[in-house]
Amino acid sequence: MTNTGSVLGRPVDRVDGPIKVAGRARYAIDVTLPNMVYGALVQSTIAAGRISRIDAARALSAPGVLTVISHDNAPRLEAGPMSVLGPPPPPPFQDDRVLHHGQHVAFVVAETPLQAAAAARLVEIEYEISDAVVTLEDPRATVEPNPFVPDQNRGDVARGLQHADVAVDVTYRTAPETHNPIGLFATVAAWDDDALTVYDTTQFPTNIQAVLAAAFGVPSDQVRVLAPYIGGAFGSGLRFWPHVTLTALGARMVGRPVKLVLTRGQMFTSIGYRPPTVQRVKLGAARDGALVAVDHESLEPLPKEDFFAEPVTASTAKLYACPNVSVRDRQARLNVAVPSWMRAPGEAQGAVGLECALDELAYELHLDPIELRLRNFAHTHPGNGLPWSTNALRECYEEGARRFGWSRRSFEPRSMRQGSQLVGLGMATGSLPYYQMPCEVRASIDRTGQAYVGSAGTDIGPGTYTIMAQVAADVLGLPMDAIRVELGDTRTPPAPQQGGSGLAAALSSATFLACRELLQTVLNAASADSRSPLCETTAAGRQPRAYSPDDVRASNGHIALAHDGTRHDTYVEILQRSGRPAFVALGKSAPQQDSNTADGVFSAKFAEVHVDPDLGRIRVTRILSVIDAGRILNPKTATSQIVGAAVGGIGMALLEETLSDPGTGRIANATFGDYLIAVNADVPDVDVLFVGQPDPANPLGVKGVGEIGLVGIAPAIANAVFHATGRRIRSVPITLDQLL
Ligand code: MOS
Repeated sequence: MTNTGSVLGRPVDRVDGPIKVAGRARYAIDVTLPNMVYGALVQSTIAAGRISRIDAARALSAPGVLTVISHDNAPRLEAGPMSVLGPPPPPPFQDDRVLHHGQHVAFVVAETPLQAAAAARLVEIEYEISDAVVTLEDPRATVEPNPFVPDQNRGDVARGLQHADVAVDVTYRTAPETHNPIGLFATVAAWDDDALTVYDTTQFPTNIQAVLAAAFGVPSDQVRVLAPYIGGAFGSGLRFWPHVTLTALGARMVGRPVKLVLTRGQMFTSIGYRPPTVQRVKLGAARDGALVAVDHESLEPLPKEDFFAEPVTASTAKLYACPNVSVRDRQARLNVAVPSWMRAPGEAQGAVGLECALDELAYELHLDPIELRLRNFAHTHPGNGLPWSTNALRECYEEGARRFGWSRRSFEPRSMRQGSQLVGLGMATGSLPYYQMPCEVRASIDRTGQAYVGSAGTDIGPGTYTIMAQVAADVLGLPMDAIRVELGDTRTPPAPQQGGSGLAAALSSATFLACRELLQTVLNAASADSRSPLCETTAAGRQPRAYSPDDVRASNGHIALAHDGTRHDTYVEILQRSGRPAFVALGKSAPQQDSNTADGVFSAKFAEVHVDPDLGRIRVTRILSVIDAGRILNPKTATSQIVGAAVGGIGMALLEETLSDPGTGRIANATFGDYLIAVNADVPDVDVLFVGQPDPANPLGVKGVGEIGLVGIAPAIANAVFHATGRRIRSVPITLDQLL
């Protein structure tokens, strides 16, 4: 499978690094088209009610203004199709209702960005205000089960809790967080008759294509979506957002290309957020630490008329061997903007509730927190009894404990000091489901020996271009610089969303299959051509034998027979003799999970904090993430994923919180000055260790590294804060006022 001297598994530099550093990578925000004009959004200043009057006269007479669109003059737009992410979002501007603060209510198009922004302030809107329900605590909120995240029950939790020697019953809260990619989201839309071209900030170009085609009633092959480079997204680019429709609608109405760039403030209201959760966790254990009951319930917000699903409590049911388990996710209908998936959606919050509660249980039992988890390690999937396809969670604990120096930790809280600082060490488990979607890749090679692999998937930053080039270079036996990778264009074969940590498995599999197929095509040509050294001389009347990719060794553009290295040929010569300009092949990958095994991505997270006993100031001084994500295609980019996710975890633990006014739902800290994100000074060196084996779920053994790095960081830090101070803070972020 792997050629000698392969780049696969090596820490190669990002292939897109040089053009990004040089400023030559063209993001949606950089796109400028001839005759292009600019859009600006007007957003509601109330959380619930009706628009009783819109007066656009002043805006329309302002300099450069071409149109003002609202529900008054918007055409009927159809909702998109159901996607793998769920039901389509409601199209914008279809009636006068306001369902949340910050809802788009008008769209101004003008000659320049400043003219559009200035005119947006001149649109006069009168509202009829209704009572808004904006907080999870509001008794008027209707609470529903999440239809996409089924409850899981086994055994008898009530009985288990009754018979437990030790029990905890605790409520944890996680704050809402806003994805804050550095790159502002931008959309450029241009119509040419009924053909629409859109440059967008998205993790899912084929879904943008499908929703826009439905909205405007044009065939989807008339809609081309381009997203070759994305300035970060963390999940905020998964859903289809209404501002994309508005940009295309504006372009249609003024007959010119339109560009919209969200402001930083609008990034807080227009592209989702990690919803807050309130979680009640009840745990019961026997004196030896064996869990006898686990009950985990989560409540999070849901908008009035849209859909959102993330699994907050699902991992709880599979992570530990326990006979009596009940978990359920609930959602409260509120006048809030629709949340979206944010890096490790659901699991990141759920791990705070479960892993902090387990730490509390460990103290009740007077048992080391790692020992408690080892005693409850699930040797098989505890729900269905299936063996794990691969699961190196025990190695995560054991290797992590050694590397982190866990044995030097004293059990008692507030027992370790360094100088004036209290020192705390904490840990937590993190897991995610393994996830793979169908995916296609086109591969080709030309007469100069240059190969190409392309797909409509995106690279939001994890290194997708790079691993695709590595897989292609490996299978074809070509140097990295002989591979051109194209991503983020719906004219290439379809790919799933870059989400759920699943794109590496999908794309590497499809790239592998496409390149194998391409190599087979090249070998077929060689074996049919008597001038090729790879052509088998055969007895008269018999077809020449065609070698398969397994029969050859390819490297540096040469293809040699595995059993006879003296017989070799080159891509360039085979192609030139064939008289064809290029060979092309398509690879299609699909999930091939074995129904006889259970799968998952696993990790253990370790954190050390120093807490100032007088000021309550918390510094994270060390982080170790031990990860079982199957085979690591590129340890450099994979490590960056785990480090970056740890930074997000530090933000979740100590800093990030989107604050909104409980009366109006207005977000009060929608700026980088007020919304705190972990910066370099907040982040220590993050140590990363990969353990485990390639997973048989796909040809290359990949499980995905995009999100696992975040799950467990916040509870590991919260548990370290308890160990340092003896204070159990049952909400994140933990701020110094709570510790004083
Ligand atoms: Mo991730 S939240 O699935 O982009």
